[in-house]
Amino acid sequence: MSMKVFALIVLVLVPFGDALSRDDFPPHFLFGASTSAYQVEGAANEDGRKPSIWDTFAHAGNANKYPGNADTGCDQYHKYKEDVQLMTKMGLDAYRFSISWPRLIPGGKGPINPKGLQYYNNLINELISQGIQPHVTLVHFDLPQALEDEYEGWVSRRIVKDFTTYADVCFREFGDRVKYWTTVNEGNVFADGGYNSGFLPPQRCSPSSTRSLLFNCSRGNSSTEPYLATHHMLLAHASATNLYRKKYQDRQHGFIGFNLLTFGYFPLTNTSEDISAAKRAQDFYIGWFLNPFIFGEYPDTMKKNVGSRLPIFSKSESNMVKGSIDFLGINYYSSFYVKDNPDSLQIKDRDYTVDMGVKLQSIFGNGTSPHEFAVLPWALHGLLVSLRNTYGNIPIYIHENGQQTDWNSSLEDWSRVKCLHDYIESLPDILRNGINVRGYFVWSFLDVFELLGGYESSFGLHYIDMSDPTLRRQPKLSAVWYSNFLNGKTIDPMITMEVQKNPSVVLSTTFSNNPILQMVQRKSTSSS
Ligand SMILES: *[C@@H]1O[C@H](CO)[C@@H](O)[C@H](O)[C@H]1NC(C)=O
Ligand SMILES: *[C@@H]1O[C@H](CO)[C@@H](O)[C@H](O)[C@H]1NC(C)=O
Ligand SMILES: *[C@@H]1O[C@H](CO)[C@@H](O)[C@H](O)[C@H]1NC(C)=O
Ligand SMILES: *[C@@H]1O[C@H](CO)[C@@H](O)[C@H](O)[C@H]1NC(C)=O
Ligand SMILES: *[C@@H]1O[C@H](CO)[C@@H](O)[C@H](O)[C@H]1NC(C)=O
Repeated sequence: MSMKVFALIVLVLVPFGDALSRDDFPPHFLFGASTSAYQVEGAANEDGRKPSIWDTFAHAGNANKYPGNADTGCDQYHKYKEDVQLMTKMGLDAYRFSISWPRLIPGGKGPINPKGLQYYNNLINELISQGIQPHVTLVHFDLPQALEDEYEGWVSRRIVKDFTTYADVCFREFGDRVKYWTTVNEGNVFADGGYNSGFLPPQRCSPSSTRSLLFNCSRGNSSTEPYLATHHMLLAHASATNLYRKKYQDRQHGFIGFNLLTFGYFPLTNTSEDISAAKRAQDFYIGWFLNPFIFGEYPDTMKKNVGSRLPIFSKSESNMVKGSIDFLGINYYSSFYVKDNPDSLQIKDRDYTVDMGVKLQSIFGNGTSPHEFAVLPWALHGLLVSLRNTYGNIPIYIHENGQQTDWNSSLEDWSRVKCLHDYIESLPDILRNGINVRGYFVWSFLDVFELLGGYESSFGLHYIDMSDPTLRRQPKLSAVWYSNFLNGKTIDPMITMEVQKNPSVVLSTTFSNNPILQMVQRKSTSSS
């Protein structure tokens, strides 16, 4: 930055203090908060709901990683009115939640559960009556257990038809009011955690040195199943979009997207090997889905490394998948430096992790809790530029962003305020750069039973003391801060000063070759 520009910024900033304001955003830019069905609803055994693979996984001990389950969760099933009231008070434009497939269609296919239908109609009506846009996800890891039992869920092509029928019910019943649909949440994490590494439901993986120290699976095949599961997610998504466009688009005017967990991937050094390794890591995590959605086929790097284990789209499938997203939902928390790892491709027992041929170095935070992520707005910016350069300027919703702390840490969650402040503050520049970001959702609206931490870690804007039978919601400082920002109130300069302290970041020295596993490993070390 030139001295002149620097002087100008100082001049602008000093008299007005914190410049962050809602007015820096286009009028249609959405701000919201997110949750998912299994994590917030509770009422797991009520009114005809049947288990999902996540219920089964939690009841079997969450891969021995953390205790607990979400049978009661935050009990949003009974407290949705109170929660919508909180959202209204906060000034949220939108609420991102998911529909529990086994609550709406308990057998996965077949009859609709009228009580489930009623619940989602009630929730959606309550949101609409308060002017809050519903952004709805259809599958947030919680496939009906019945379909897992019948044909092994996403591993089988039969899922495509059953998913399409489920989506049809949702479009038909709720599409007059819901305009933003996401078919699958974090498809890439689901494929890796559920079918390659085995740390997520349905916990399928093969015994192999790269994983068995952490997780043991009794069934599955990490060499083939992650690729099959993804292939079927892509076909199921495309089939649902196709149906929507033919049957509902004219009347309902909605949009269909897909959600991925994203990381920034930066070469560790400037050698051409590390530069291609960074691109390859991005291909394996993001291109795995986005190349088919944008170009109709898997990335060349994946075809090369995975070979005949990578399924092939027929011409008509490729045409159906290509162009089947109206928007991309990204979840963003952290980033990695990438180092080439050609030795990995010499391993005989190949799996998705090994196929990537990289080592990743996490960029971790240095906060008060060992759980905290480094707050790196430049890395989010870099990721978005890279996506635009590779895939064109598709509309993007940041579906999740936020900070992880310990569950019972203080209501004065400065580190979360800092995180939200710094990422939101970075968005106007990203928009000025012409990147098509349309909205930002905080994960999570409430403290929820976390996928990688159960009730030990939390991301919520509101604290819930799980030992209090009323499950009273208590706003944390971050909820107050976000609400002030959304309501156009002046942000307390003390908060700005506080969040500017302690900006340091340490690089961890451990290498791994799977970013999501690294998050899990880190979680297990910090909680033991
Ligand atoms: C996984 O499937 C491949 C291809 O069918 C097979 O060669 C391999 O032995 C299987 N691995 C395991 C662990 O079952
Ligand atoms: C998985 O099984 C292996 C071999 O039986 C054992 O050494 C390892 O400790 C197990 N890992 C876990 C996480 O239980
Ligand atoms: C790589 O090159 C860029 C541009 O020349 C430079 O800014 C960056 O610091 C270099 N990175 C490393 C790790 O050497
Ligand atoms: C960051 O963490 C390192 C390693 O734990 C520690 O030595 C250092 O003092 C920390 N820095 C700050 C600013 O907290
Ligand atoms: C949080 O505090 C409650 C109430 O003191 C306690 O029951 C619970 O075990 C604590 N949770 C964690 C993860 O420490």
